[in-house]
Parts: sequence; C-alpha cells; structure tokens
Amino acid sequence: MTDWLSDRNGLLHAEDVPLSAIAARFGTPAYVYSRSAIATAFEEFARAAAGRRALVCYALKANSNLAIIDLLARAGAGFDIVSGGELKRVLAAGGDPAKVVFSGVGKSEAEIRLALEHSVRCFNVESESELRRLSAIASATGKRANVSLRVNPDVDAGTHPYISTGLRQNKFGIAHDAALAVYREAAKLPGIAVVGIDCHIGSQITELAPFVAAMDKVIELAGALSREGIALEHLDLGGGLGIRYDDEQPPSRAAMLAAVFERIDSSPVVRDLEVMFEFGRSIVGNAGLLLTRVEYLKANSDKRFAIVDAAMNDLMRPALYEAYHRIVPVARNPGAASRYDVVGPVCESGDWLGRDRDLAINEGDLLAILSAGAYGMAMSSNYNTRPRPAEVMVEGSRVHLIRDRETVESLYALERRLPA
Ligand code: LLP
Repeated sequence: MTDWLSDRNGLLHAEDVPLSAIAARFGTPAYVYSRSAIATAFEEFARAAAGRRALVCYALKANSNLAIIDLLARAGAGFDIVSGGELKRVLAAGGDPAKVVFSGVGKSEAEIRLALEHSVRCFNVESESELRRLSAIASATGKRANVSLRVNPDVDAGTHPYISTGLRQNKFGIAHDAALAVYREAAKLPGIAVVGIDCHIGSQITELAPFVAAMDKVIELAGALSREGIALEHLDLGGGLGIRYDDEQPPSRAAMLAAVFERIDSSPVVRDLEVMFEFGRSIVGNAGLLLTRVEYLKANSDKRFAIVDAAMNDLMRPALYEAYHRIVPVARNPGAASRYDVVGPVCESGDWLGRDRDLAINEGDLLAILSAGAYGMAMSSNYNTRPRPAEVMVEGSRVHLIRDRETVESLYALERRLPA
C-alpha cells in the first residue's frame, strides 16, 4: 500500500486524519490526496537528478488541480502541458512558464499564440505541418519558438494499448527514420530554434528496458544531428514510469533516472546536454484515493454487488482500461468477507470500480479506492448529471479543501432553454 495510509485501531488514516472524519466533513465521493506523498515522490526525482543539468517536469494531465501544481512549483518542478488550458492552470497556480514544455499532437493556433506570449521553454512538435504553423505564427509576432521534435522510436513500452504511444502505429511523434529530414527543415525555418529531441513511449511502464531502448534511439539521432551541424541543448525523455496498483514491481524513481544518466554519461554526443522528464503518474498516482460510501449490497443469483456512491464518471480507469485499483474498507469489520463487484450508480454495465473483491462490508460503510491520484479526477465527467467529487489534500492532521464538490446547478449553468 502507500505509506501515507495507516490502519490505526482498525480505522484507516490519511496521514494523521481518519478517513471517516473526511467523509463526515466533506461528504462522499471525495478524492483525498497526501501533500507529503506528492512532495516525496517529486523529491525522489529531484534528488536523483541533483547536481546535473536536469529539469523534472510534472505532466499536468495526470492531475491538474491548482493546489498540486502550486505544491510542485514551489518544489521546483517544471511542467509538461498539452493544452492552452493547462498553461493557464500553471500560470494561475504560480508556475513559471519558462519551465513549461508544450506537448501534444494537435496544438491549435490560439494555443500556440498563448504559449508564445508567455515564452514557454519549449514546444514538442509532432508533425511537419505543426512545425510550419508554429514557425509562421512565431515569425509573424517577431519571435522564435524553441522546438524539440517528438520522435517516435518504435519501441514497445509493454503497457496497455491505449496508453502506449511509442509504436509506429500510434498517432504520436515523427517516425524515427523521418526525423532527420524534418530536423533539417526545422533548422531552416525562420520562426524556429531547434533546441532538443523529445520522446515519450507510453505510460505505466514497469521495466527499465523500454526506456533504455528509446534512449538509445534518441542518442543515435542526436549523433546524426550533430554530424549535420544541428546543435541541441536538451533531451526530453518524457514520462511513463509506472506505479504499483496491485503487485507490479516498477523500478524506483532513482533507478529509472540512474539508468538514463548512465546511458547519457557514456555517450559523448549527449553528455553535456540538459535532460528533461515529464512524469505524471509516478508523482501523484499513489498519492491519492477515492473515498466512497456503500449505498446498497445486493445479490443477483450468485453474484454479489456492492453499489457505492462513486462511479465510472468519477474514476474512469476501470471502465476504460479494465484497470485495477485496490479497494479497502475504511473501518475494519469483524464479519466474514464476501466476494463483490464494486459498482457505481451509473446506468451502464461498464460502470464498475473493482471486480471479485473479497470485502467484509455493510451498507453505509466507507471504502477507499487506492492509487487514484493520477488520471482519476483529471478524466472524470458529469455523465448522468453527477456533480464531480470534492477534492481534499491532507497535510499532517490538517485537511485542505482544494476543490469544492460541484453543484448540480453548475452543471447546466451554461445551457439555455429554447425561446418561448
Ligand atoms: N508526456 C507525454 C507526452 C504524455 O503523453 C504523457 C502521458 C506523459 C508525459 C505522462 O505520462 P505518465 O508519467 O503519467 O505515465 N489516462 C491513462 C494514461 C494516459 C497517459 C497519456 N500520456 C491512464 O489512466 O492510465
């Protein structure tokens, strides 16, 4: 489990706060995060990169709550964004745009303008068309955009097909074989300053080998560029380090960075370049849980269901990827366990949060759905007109409300009835 959670006299605590107290004060469902768990995860990366020219960015898409951005900005993180909206969040939370890298395959003109206005550190460009658009907009405003090309190294990250991005058949990046030609073009465009190579091969990667294989491709390309006289300032190796949801054994943050730096140090072409990363899940994934209450227990023939007040709209990962999240009762129960599918109230058979879980529970009990800090709230929706959960961050014995529970009225506030 995660070390910010502990069983104290049969009651699950988040840092020093009983989860039952959070439910009583803020209601359920609620996302609960640990300030120290987020800070510690980031510090592990920072420590592993200490003394080097390196920038550890946080990939905002994993969880873009302002409090989390704020906390990481104060810790010195850079930010990986994929939209103009995410840039505005970084600015609203006090982050430094000079530490922002802008990723994504479909940057709009407006988003490019906004990012140029704020002089983001680098655009990770994914196609020739995007490169030309960026150059045109930048030169028209008298600027030059710092650019890395995102290369697709055709490496199998060994992860779920929906979150694998570094294969030839994925929409991401520029094919490794084509990259050199695109770099030549980039070097000639007036609004572009070539500064780096970018690469991200997927998410929830639990082995080092794919990262190292991708690195090797990146280093090879850097060598080819240097022979052409195209000088680089940095390598951006993306994110993707996996976490433990169940019994996965991902490499530690330190081991992951050590493997990368070892490779870099042994290659004269890239040895002196700055190294950037874009980690999302590894920083926040295990630092959050979704707190929910059992509404009903029921059995259909021999199948038992625990119907809880959280649903696929709050945590989409099980429905979308068949992802596994541990589910534990908040209060230890003396009774015998039964096997349940833990499901939500949404009208879809895909609305499940956990299957075949042995739980000793009663109606009204609280459950904690673990490892929900990344891609939980960030991917939530209002399906079935369900207001999104409150979000709180625990800090020792204090609890900060970092997002109010939505109201139903706010969900249709932008809608209009027809004229009479
Ligand atoms: N950089 C780029 C360009 C990315 O596309 C991503 C994630 C990251 C960094 C951060 O990856 P991380 O360190 O979090 O693995 N919704 C899925 C995950 C989608 C990841 C998309 N890209 C899930 O819930 O598993």
